[in-house]
Amino acid sequence: MTDLTVWLEATGAVSAAGGLGYAKIRAPRVYWSLVGMPVTWGRFALSYRSTMDVCGLTVQPSGLRAFMTRNVARREVQPVPPKVRRVRGTSTGLRVTLRLPAGLEPADLIASSERLRHAWGVHSVTVTETKPGYVELRMTGYDVLRRVRMPRGAQPRGMVVPVALREDGTAFERDYRAAPMALTLGANQSGKSMYQRNLIKGLAQLPVALVGIDCKRGVEQTAYASRLSALVTSPDDAASLLGVLVAEMEDRFDLLSRHGVSDLWELPESTRPVPVVVLVDEIAELFLISSKKDEERRERIVTALIRLAQMARAVGIHLEICGQRFGSDLGKGATMLRAQLTGRVVHRVNDKQTAEMGLNDLAPDAVPVASLIPMERPGTAVAADSSGGWSKIRTPNTTRDEVVAVCRAFAHLVPDLPVLAPFRPAAPVVPAPVAGPSLVKPRPVTP
Ligand SMILES: Nc1ncnc2c1ncn2[C@@H]1O[C@H](COP(=O)(O)OP(=O)(O)OP(=O)(O)O)[C@@H](O)[C@H]1O
Ligand SMILES: [Mg+2]
Repeated sequence: MTDLTVWLEATGAVSAAGGLGYAKIRAPRVYWSLVGMPVTWGRFALSYRSTMDVCGLTVQPSGLRAFMTRNVARREVQPVPPKVRRVRGTSTGLRVTLRLPAGLEPADLIASSERLRHAWGVHSVTVTETKPGYVELRMTGYDVLRRVRMPRGAQPRGMVVPVALREDGTAFERDYRAAPMALTLGANQSGKSMYQRNLIKGLAQLPVALVGIDCKRGVEQTAYASRLSALVTSPDDAASLLGVLVAEMEDRFDLLSRHGVSDLWELPESTRPVPVVVLVDEIAELFLISSKKDEERRERIVTALIRLAQMARAVGIHLEICGQRFGSDLGKGATMLRAQLTGRVVHRVNDKQTAEMGLNDLAPDAVPVASLIPMERPGTAVAADSSGGWSKIRTPNTTRDEVVAVCRAFAHLVPDLPVLAPFRPAAPVVPAPVAGPSLVKPRPVTP
């Protein structure tokens, strides 16, 4: 009997250990919640003071405090670390809010984040300033970018689309009102089209007009035709479409001036035109020409793009441009257009110059990070924001069928924009059901 109990206990222990080992690899969220979080929380609570001390993140207490400690409490005066205000567990890690003592700044913690990560045995530690005097340490318990799952609360709303996951476990959102125009760079097969696919999936659910310019004969965007207000697949058509968009921009400016406002969002909802997002899949196709006779077309395209990039924000027309490179080698106007594109996302690149094209103006310290993205992690990128910060992100692996289904489901949101009607793609043909013997008996219409 004792033997049986021992045997059962041993088998139970082995299968529990096996289950946890399996969960660690296959279901890291479950493993983190069951094992990782309690262990890390305990380690953090026990070693906080000593870790901060050895990492140089403590300050000498103020004169009054030192006096009280020495004379009233009769203890030795010790350096003080930042006060822990809140510790919160999430499905991916721990969030700790700290109140900084006088003499420490967020940069001190950022500089030590690698040391803190090793001290507490977590995958990453990111430091974010939440308000003056307070910082949040965002720890992740495992590599959240290995298999991306978006946080549940991240849903498209207003003009904001969650498009990827940040290294710290939060959603990276594309906010069209904060950064009206954006540029996405990356080498072949680095995940640019996947980024745009995720964007289309989110935008499709919002009341906006989507315009596709896909000069690779439409291989990427044709599938989403049911939700697109316009789609062009050749540079000639792109030139006409951009001309129409510039005219639309001018009409919208007339409307703004009639109402005495300077921004589309200040208009009353009943008269506000619908925002338009123009998605360009490969910008080089619009810039490069093979013969002299195409020069005039190129000129028209580049001028229209620059005008839109410079002014169209106020009237709710946004550019979302993808490309493998975007430098002066594309020809006249390229760097001028690039300067107008505020949002920057750089995927894996083959050379440092390409990373510099995207990041040097906004976040120069992110350039080496973009150059080191491994090939076997497509979809990983560095996203810079206009505040000088940057983060490592990865898009979820969304299938084309999934996005096609979303586009179909939200096809009723395609707005009524007569100017774009000539460019409206035919809705994709749904395969007809295979003809079989009819079960309905034909009846003559006339009696
Ligand atoms: N986040 C991701 N997770 C997993 N796989 C991805 C991810 N992003 C992209 N991929 C895969 O990487 C491959 C290349 O992606 P994608 O077509 O988006 O690259 P691209 O940069 O547009 O390439 P190209 O310049 O050739 O158009 C695809 O097979 C895609 O399935
Ligand atoms: Mg592509």
